[in-house]
Amino acid sequence: MRKKIALYGAGNIGSTIAQLLAPKDIADVVLFDIDATIAEGKALDIQQAASVSGFNSKITGSNDASIIKDADIVVISAGIPRRKDPETGQFPNRSELTQINQSVIETAANHIKTFAPNSIIIMITNPIDAMCHVVKEVTGFSRERIVGQAGALDTARYKTLIAQELNVSVHDVNGIVLGGHGDSMVPLTGHTTVGSVPILELMSQETLNAIIKRTISGGGEIVKLMGYSSFYTPAASTVMMIESILFDQKKIIPCSVFTEGEYGFNQLFLGLPAVLGANGVESIIDISLNESEKIRLQQSAKTVEEEIAMLA
Ligand code: APR
Repeated sequence: MRKKIALYGAGNIGSTIAQLLAPKDIADVVLFDIDATIAEGKALDIQQAASVSGFNSKITGSNDASIIKDADIVVISAGIPRRKDPETGQFPNRSELTQINQSVIETAANHIKTFAPNSIIIMITNPIDAMCHVVKEVTGFSRERIVGQAGALDTARYKTLIAQELNVSVHDVNGIVLGGHGDSMVPLTGHTTVGSVPILELMSQETLNAIIKRTISGGGEIVKLMGYSSFYTPAASTVMMIESILFDQKKIIPCSVFTEGEYGFNQLFLGLPAVLGANGVESIIDISLNESEKIRLQQSAKTVEEEIAMLA
């Protein structure tokens, strides 16, 4: 039987994931959204490309949560993004945003528990780590089956910027970004190589610092340009995670995972290098960190704790 992927939230990210998955013909895709017109309309639009793109996958959408029934993977992107209030021109503050999204995620988690109790959950809604905690609390799923999309996106930006700077193939760039989004992310420069050559043999520390700075502000740069959050690279990064799980590829992808002593952290979702396979988070890879990386990872954990403290 064909695998089933449920996209809980059919906004920019959810629908872009559907659009990227459909031509791969690897699973049926369902889109759920509180807004029926979006869920149904986008599913129909993507489905109608079947004959030209050459896929047999069924793409359907609904505002009835039972559409996610028996999904193998559920990707949650429902929520309120960082978007300017059209009247005030202001962004909502972090605490307001966290509590609004918390209630959305609680409902999502209950739906998943009811309709897709054996699924693996990929969390996209921000703040990702705190929202993973909400899902864990409500579903009681094991840590293998809850994973947040965090470092995959930051690593994608980091590696692309390096390839562009050096004018080399992106396939030759190896690097990893741990921790949370934004200021608290931890790019592991000592573990970054291009064609096996350590990065600092190919560019100056100054250039690398500029790349790190741009990676850190990567999301903000796009929000500033468009007035709303990016979605193409977040969607592409999520598809990479889905494929690693669906095909048991066991790729090492930095994700938000529930720690049980790894890197000295406990009972906290944090961006760490995880092996994603058929069972979800199959293991967490232990990478040696230098002192400054350790400190930054601790700061990252502190940010997650602050986000958890904002939950109602
Ligand atoms: N149940 C289901 N869907 C909901 C609910 C809910 N309770 N509340 C909101 N939604 C839907 C909206 O109708 C919208 O279609 O979630 C979707 C969010 O889509 P976008 O606003 O386009 O946001 P997107 O860019 O896809 O980002 C999704 O990821 O970047 C993070 O936290 C950020 O909220 C953002 C999420």
